[in-house]
Amino acid sequence: MSVLTTSPAWQALLTHQQQFDRETLRGVKERKELQWQGAGLKLDASRHWVNADTVKLLLNLASQQDIVGWRKKMFDGTAINSTEDRAVLHTALRAEESAAIHVDGRNVMPDIIGVKKRLADFADKVRDGVWQGATRQQIKSVVNIGIGGSDLGPKMVTEALKPFHDTDMEFHFVSNVDSTHIVETLKKCDPETTLFIIASKTFTTIETLTNAKTARKWLVEKLGEKAVAKHFVAVSTATEKVTEFGIDANNMFGFWDWVGGRYSVWSAIGLPLMLAIGPDGFAQFLAGARAMDDHFQITPLADNLPVIMALLGVWYRNFWNLPVQAVLPYDHYLESFSRYLQQLDMESNGKRVDRQGHVVDYETGAIIFGEPGTNGQHAFYQLIHQGTTVIPCDFIITHKTHNPRSDHHKILVANASAQPDALWQGRSLEQAGNNPYKEFPGLRPSSIIHVPELNPSSLGALIALYEHKVFVQSVIWNINAFDQFGVELGKEMATAMMK
Ligand code: F6P
Repeated sequence: MSVLTTSPAWQALLTHQQQFDRETLRGVKERKELQWQGAGLKLDASRHWVNADTVKLLLNLASQQDIVGWRKKMFDGTAINSTEDRAVLHTALRAEESAAIHVDGRNVMPDIIGVKKRLADFADKVRDGVWQGATRQQIKSVVNIGIGGSDLGPKMVTEALKPFHDTDMEFHFVSNVDSTHIVETLKKCDPETTLFIIASKTFTTIETLTNAKTARKWLVEKLGEKAVAKHFVAVSTATEKVTEFGIDANNMFGFWDWVGGRYSVWSAIGLPLMLAIGPDGFAQFLAGARAMDDHFQITPLADNLPVIMALLGVWYRNFWNLPVQAVLPYDHYLESFSRYLQQLDMESNGKRVDRQGHVVDYETGAIIFGEPGTNGQHAFYQLIHQGTTVIPCDFIITHKTHNPRSDHHKILVANASAQPDALWQGRSLEQAGNNPYKEFPGLRPSSIIHVPELNPSSLGALIALYEHKVFVQSVIWNINAFDQFGVELGKEMATAMMK
């Protein structure tokens, strides 16, 4: 048995779970003591299998696992990505510029500020039409070529903040190595007015390099070799590989090995967003995340949004053996949010070996899935309401629409509010007229995350909330959330098959 599962806090929770009578919660509604606010967001956790004792015991587990100590280590730049001996400092990318954050004794802030300035200059030039294509035409289409963290983040945020785009440029994202993806995208573009961003932390990823070569060939066939300098930029940590590919180092925006791919949207990887909403809008996006960083760092654990969300996840995953977590945003601009979270959460916490190299004897990361409401309601909610598997849900509700039209928003919010209640209240057999098919068991747990309005700042806070939730869970599970060796075997075997 592991240190964790034999620990007092874990054992106390096991006993508590065995004695927990969920029926005592039937009829319980809004519980003010299970609602929290931070960084402009509100978490309503009224509808969960918890009482005051549960919260106390979960917080004991958090203290026992030294969340406070690990949090400090992360923000300080300690090499907590132990398997790769790297610091984990995506938070530095959104820190106040006056901060001093050290990696191996060196303040990383001047580098961050330098790249941010180059990015802003470049974005302004493209947006103002000063940066032109080889035939002196303004850029109209931006094609980001990347995969995983070099795609999901920039795509999700660029889509989510569409109401804040103040340019006529169109944004496209190509990730899949299936040629259909690039071919269909290029059909929508004119080489004379297209800018390609080749986004790859390592610049070795086969999907990205293959797509980039196809894009390059397409451009060169139409405009000649010289045009590459005006139509290709790169975002990477690997300068040599970028220049080998034929992209001038002057057209490259760097970041650092202490930024994980799935945590990189705050770095130069966020360039598509900066082009879309401008450097000031991007600064607000960072500021929103910083507000959540501050909340996470200074708020006591008992009132700390990411900590509470993480503990609820652990409660269900480890003590009720529930493997799945749904994330259901009621805002169509968040269409890609759940997909983005899948990488953030599952690549981070999908681990079976602890920090000491031992195979764990407890469950770790949950399976994340979701779709925006109300589409999901007409697809998989049947199982969530009446299936045999209980799936805790996060409902994300934005309270102001960017597109007021007749009753759309009222209907959307009514549905978003009704679903958590329907799941929790259920409908008894008696209420269902003794028809077992129409009975709803109820007491199905969910959280509501209230977002007043989707904007750069609230989106930044929302993403950072989930980042820290994932981190807190990794600390409780004593695993490293920042490597991803699990993606390698398949890659190696595919390479061997190619040969
Ligand atoms: O799939 C593994 C992975 O390394 C992810 O962690 C990463 O986001 C993605 O591939 C892309 O990597 P890169 O940015 O180096 O091309």
